[in-house]
Amino acid sequence: MKRIAVLASGSGTNLQAIIDAVDDGTITGAQVTLVISDREDAFALERARNHNIPTMFFNRKNYAGREEFDGAIIAALQAQQIDLVILAGYMRLITPDFVAAFPQRILNIHPSLLPAFPGTQGVADALAYGVKVTGCTVHFVDEGMDTGPIILQEAIPVNDHDTRETLHQRIQVLEHKLYPQAIKLWLEGRLKIEGRRCLIDDN
Ligand code: GAR
Repeated sequence: MKRIAVLASGSGTNLQAIIDAVDDGTITGAQVTLVISDREDAFALERARNHNIPTMFFNRKNYAGREEFDGAIIAALQAQQIDLVILAGYMRLITPDFVAAFPQRILNIHPSLLPAFPGTQGVADALAYGVKVTGCTVHFVDEGMDTGPIILQEAIPVNDHDTRETLHQRIQVLEHKLYPQAIKLWLEGRLKIEGRRCLIDDN
């Protein structure tokens, strides 16, 4: 049984989708065994508690720098023998040490078609730019900001009447489907990285 840790800063709807996918058997051979947040009031922590999943809160203010902060998180993940780290609305750039501690074992979801609109405002930036198509991306995490090899992407049209909220809502519907799919592929050992590309073994 593989052990998954989810890092989240906010509402945790992606965390919920992953928990549900484990519960309904879409994801097999793994369990979410730890949820970590950098925000004490993140609703993601509440969702975890509702499912009796252990939670940890790390307060950035208690650490001198990013290295120390991520060092504490790495230690917690290693102590819990975590196999796969899932960033789900975790609004911090992780350190190179963190990436190195879990090679090809950290995934992220982003609400745009990367490499367009990286960062924390992917939906607002796409809307402001005026693109007609946007979407979401699940990718491996490397040292950059939303730059790792892309696992899955799906597109949706931007409508004239979209606001950031309506557009984000439709993107989230995709996210909740795509993230469990990508995790399943990882667990099945079907993802192979070749340079920038992530190839999916179709068995
Ligand atoms: C998601 O839409 C995710 O793509 C985005 O934050 C939201 C979290 O929602 N992540 C980023 O923008 C990362 N740069 P959730 O807390 O309901 O899962």
